[in-house]
Amino acid sequence: MKKMAIFHGRRWFFRSFSSLSSSHPLRVCIVGSGPAGFYTAEKLLKGHQRAEVDIIDRLPTPFGLVRSGVAPDHQETKIVINQFSRVALNERCSFFGNVSLGTSVSLSELREMYNVVVLAYGAESDRFLGVPGEDLAGIHSAREFVWWYNGHPDYSNLNPDLKRTDTAVVLGQGNVALDVARILLRPTAELATTDVANHALVSLQESSIRKVYLVGRRGPVQAACTAKELREVLGIKDLYIHIQEADLLKSPADEEELKNSRIQRRVYELLSKAANSQRPHPIPGQRELHFMFFRRPVNFLSSDASNNKVTGVHFEKTILKENGESGKQSAVGTGQFEEVECGLVLKSIGYKSVPVDGLPFDHHKGVVPNFRGRVLSNTSVLEKGLYVVGWLKRGPTGIIATNLYCAEETVESISEDVEQGILTPPTVPKPGREGLLQLLDSRDIRFVPFSGWEKIDVKERSEGSAKNKPREKITKWEDLLKVANG
Ligand SMILES: Cc1cc2nc3c(=O)[nH]c(=O)nc-3n(C[C@H](O)[C@H](O)[C@H](O)COP(=O)(O)OP(=O)(O)OC[C@H]3O[C@@H](n4cnc5c(N)ncnc54)[C@H](O)[C@@H]3O)c2cc1C
Ligand SMILES: NC(=O)c1ccc[n+]([C@@H]2O[C@H](COP(=O)([O-])OP(=O)(O)OC[C@H]3O[C@@H](n4cnc5c(N)ncnc54)[C@H](OP(=O)(O)O)[C@@H]3O)[C@@H](O)[C@H]2O)c1
Repeated sequence: MKKMAIFHGRRWFFRSFSSLSSSHPLRVCIVGSGPAGFYTAEKLLKGHQRAEVDIIDRLPTPFGLVRSGVAPDHQETKIVINQFSRVALNERCSFFGNVSLGTSVSLSELREMYNVVVLAYGAESDRFLGVPGEDLAGIHSAREFVWWYNGHPDYSNLNPDLKRTDTAVVLGQGNVALDVARILLRPTAELATTDVANHALVSLQESSIRKVYLVGRRGPVQAACTAKELREVLGIKDLYIHIQEADLLKSPADEEELKNSRIQRRVYELLSKAANSQRPHPIPGQRELHFMFFRRPVNFLSSDASNNKVTGVHFEKTILKENGESGKQSAVGTGQFEEVECGLVLKSIGYKSVPVDGLPFDHHKGVVPNFRGRVLSNTSVLEKGLYVVGWLKRGPTGIIATNLYCAEETVESISEDVEQGILTPPTVPKPGREGLLQLLDSRDIRFVPFSGWEKIDVKERSEGSAKNKPREKITKWEDLLKVANG
């Protein structure tokens, strides 16, 4: 007999339980094939010789944000796909694309069919500002814009209007904000040899946007980006950079923050250097990037003539206020306002995860409550056999490699639970893959196996090579499914 741990009232209680029979395979379903899902699969396959791992994804294509988030001019970052492909090709692993948790299959069905279900479905919605005018035409979340230029099939029809204006405002100063600003400003000849979606390349080539405001509600010390990404945007060919020198003044609290963070120090130094070397005015026709600090959007503007389209952003100037013991400073309004005219706004203030039926969810933090990856119910009781990893576990921050450490922790928890007999022992083995196949068949859902993705991959690469691109992405659902099933 083994012991089962129950997490209750913030403490662990143990109850005797017999462990998962050692002769049964450990049937695992991972929901989501981004970095978190693939790193989890890799660790599970290595650590458990009895593990059979199925990865489902709502898209016909694997790899999550490595395909649909990472910028097209960051091809070297996408090399990790080779490592994930080796995992998918492991004989104990299967990929089921075009299978969506919540519509194709429910969470309770997956939990019935598998010993272990690991949720790795990321963050597919957006934080909202909650200010008037947020739904005007011409305002998009960065997620939508990124999915559009990266050829995500849900957003290939977004068609952001890049021709009615010469000015765009990007709200937020994290790495995603830098990505979208760079894509708007970078010479399109440099994008033409990347895997940017063709519809986006054409639209960017015809774009009239010359000026981008990158706006933060706090100061240059608190800019959420990292040095490498900042250096890249500052290094765009023939770009005029503007930073108000007065914004670079530091308070004692800023000095303290800088002392404690190397990343912030390097970002601040780069911004200061850029401010010191800036020219007084742009050359006529030159593209411009304006860093605006200490501004928070209070509402979006539109004129009668603009037909419900955004014409500007109304900002309140802010100052920083120390936030108790956390050492963080937050932005508070000063009652002084300013307007910036623009015809395009990209809100890059963070992604947000969404719950599915039957899943405990912390709506405030936008994550699944968990203890080292073990899902906890709303009353802090352990949800046996249910785990979480990646952005759904930690919130929408961290680079690809962060998910490797995150997956290690979740897999460690799974291993401990297997070892300690916490997973309910099935009297008969769980059906796992066989059960999933039967269920999909009964619902007439045509899933895309990894070999289906390989067909898409071959077609995209061959169409890309004719244009000197690494691939020409297929961007429509029907075309992806046709190629995968062909
Ligand atoms: C725009 C952008 C650019 C980035 N660029 C970089 C970079 O250059 N370098 C870097 O290191 N990091 C970068 N990152 C961070 C990195 O992409 C993330 O850390 C990582 O992708 C998070 O992994 P994840 O597996 O948790 O989520 P995701 O990568 O989002 O994967 C989630 C997967 O779940 C699937 N899914 C969603 N809902 C369901 C459902 N209901 N049923 C089934 N499947 C579902 C999705 O289709 C997706 O495949 C970037 C992030 C963004 C947003
Ligand atoms: N090349 C790369 O490695 C790369 C590329 C892209 C993304 N990523 C990673 O992906 C993760 C997500 O990036 P992200 O840029 O989406 O998130 P992020 O780094 O958390 O940045 C979010 C930005 O939005 C601002 N913000 C949040 N709420 C706001 C509000 N209500 N009003 C105004 N501004 C608000 C934040 O300002 P405050 O600081 O004031 O809250 C911050 O500037 C990050 O970890 C990032 O490093 C990496």
